Amino acid sequence: MTRAVARSHPNIALVKYWGKQDEQLILPAAGSLSLTIDAFPTTTEVTLDSGATEDTFSLNGIPGAVGQTARVSALLDIVREAAGVSTFAHVDSVSEIPTDAGLASSAAGFSALAAAAAAAYGLDLDPRALSRLARRGSGSASRSVIPGLAVWHAGNDEESFAEPVDGPDVRMVIVTLSTGAKPVSSREAMRICMLTSPYYSAWVDSTKWTLEGALEACKDNDFTRLGRITELHANRMHALIQSADPPIRYLTPQSVAVFDAVAQLRQEGRNCYATADAGPNVVVLTTPDDADRVARHLAGFGQTRVVGAGLGAAVIERGVAS
Ligand code: DP6
Repeated sequence: MTRAVARSHPNIALVKYWGKQDEQLILPAAGSLSLTIDAFPTTTEVTLDSGATEDTFSLNGIPGAVGQTARVSALLDIVREAAGVSTFAHVDSVSEIPTDAGLASSAAGFSALAAAAAAAYGLDLDPRALSRLARRGSGSASRSVIPGLAVWHAGNDEESFAEPVDGPDVRMVIVTLSTGAKPVSSREAMRICMLTSPYYSAWVDSTKWTLEGALEACKDNDFTRLGRITELHANRMHALIQSADPPIRYLTPQSVAVFDAVAQLRQEGRNCYATADAGPNVVVLTTPDDADRVARHLAGFGQTRVVGAGLGAAVIERGVAS
């Protein structure tokens, strides 16, 4: 039985992905920019089993829910079709993302799965092809294939992949606030925004030129400009989300208080800008010099963790299982 193990890390978007032009192929309505971080990896083993009659999936040793296993199986179907192999597989994932960290686990999860599955089924994919494959599992997973800063291009199936971007040396402070369960999944919330928000088309248009500005800031090594864009774009995404019908709100009063504290830190001369994904936790983009001080200052709000640029998805073991 052929097997492969791959590891990948989460990423945090500076220019957000929120909305699809094709739900089946997971093509984004606009491009996005993120940092793959150096903490909380997911490690996934894919083992082909010629005797199996269906795929199986476990996460941290617990069998996956039906919906989770179906999403894993759907990605394996794409790999099987490309490889011309019909054998089912066992997929075992270990995620080091603490359940309360508020980090999207799907990016690390699907990029690790794509890398492990491609290797186990004998597909030799370059980073672009691997990014396109990971995208089919979860859009943001396309970016976790790439180390550090990554831009994910909008476009058709061929054109929509992530690739590395040179830019300033940054750190992130992850501020974990006390969390409840997500009210609505990002996949569902994106759909509701697209269907009901009168601001959706303005969001998509503005994201296109916001991304251009962010890429220029990266090229110029301009941390301040990149930071300003990051915070602005996060606020715009959350404004869009709140404008959906029925309204969805991920930020809590605590999250808003962290955004205010970050603004206050800037007044005091620190280089820091806040962002948040589809949940209440806040991630602060900062510089290597200011990271520890920012983390100390925000420690009263919740648990803080300083992270930096991490590695992209990689196969760490392959072979024949007994
Ligand atoms: C708020 O990649 O989880 O984190 O493609 O439907 O699986 P699907 O969505 P997903 O959405 C991530 C949304 C976000 C912003 C971002 O990462 O860019």
